[in-house]
Amino acid sequence: MRKKLVAGNWKMHGNKEQNQELLNAIIAGMPRMRSGECVVCVPYPYLSQVQLLLQNTFIKLGAQNVNQFAKGAYTGEVSAEMLNDFGCHYVIVGHSERRAVYGENDQTVALKYAAAQKSNMVPILCVGETSEQREADVTEQVIFKQLNAVIENSGVSSLVNAVIAYEPVWAIGTGKTATPQQAQDVHSYIRKSIAMLDPEVASALTILYGGSVKADNASQLFAMPDIDGGLIGGASLIATDFISICQSVQN
Ligand code: 13P
Repeated sequence: MRKKLVAGNWKMHGNKEQNQELLNAIIAGMPRMRSGECVVCVPYPYLSQVQLLLQNTFIKLGAQNVNQFAKGAYTGEVSAEMLNDFGCHYVIVGHSERRAVYGENDQTVALKYAAAQKSNMVPILCVGETSEQREADVTEQVIFKQLNAVIENSGVSSLVNAVIAYEPVWAIGTGKTATPQQAQDVHSYIRKSIAMLDPEVASALTILYGGSVKADNASQLFAMPDIDGGLIGGASLIATDFISICQSVQN
């Protein structure tokens, strides 16, 4: 059985007081998960605080980005080993905001993915098309190129220790969710493309959907056969919504 997963991406939100309040409310409202896994990807300065808050809970810790190099003169950057030091299990790589705002290309993302795995973390590799690309009917080509950069660099077997998140750029933070069928079509394309290289890896791969997932649309999305959970932005900052989304993935 494929692992079900709900990952919260806090992006650049929170402070010490809010983090504590949010996590206490989530843990109190949902002491454990029957099945599946839950992770919160928090801003770097709060890794230590959140690591402590999550001790002896079922929620795993993740980060939102990682540098591709092991160490060196890279002012302002954070290495995979540093994240490891704080007990990070997961790290998001290639989020569309990193690609669009910070100019990360497929090659850089592929190196970050490899760096995360080298430090025994599970990369959550984000792929997705813009609205222009969808309108131009090149969604599959865009996704293929993003995936292929990682497969060429790390090999298809590396996906055994990875998660893919399909996040259509036009659905992120816009309130415009992909329909369950639109998302399923791309998820199925991703799984089939990987199956051509290795059917076993493809069938065991967790593929998340991200982009305006909310408490009221999560169940329909997660009911689709190739959608194994979600990468949640805004709704991961509201305890009741995040709990409800985590519950949807277990049904
Ligand atoms: P929203 O859920 O706020 O649309 O964000 C999605 C996202 O970018 C998660 O990584």
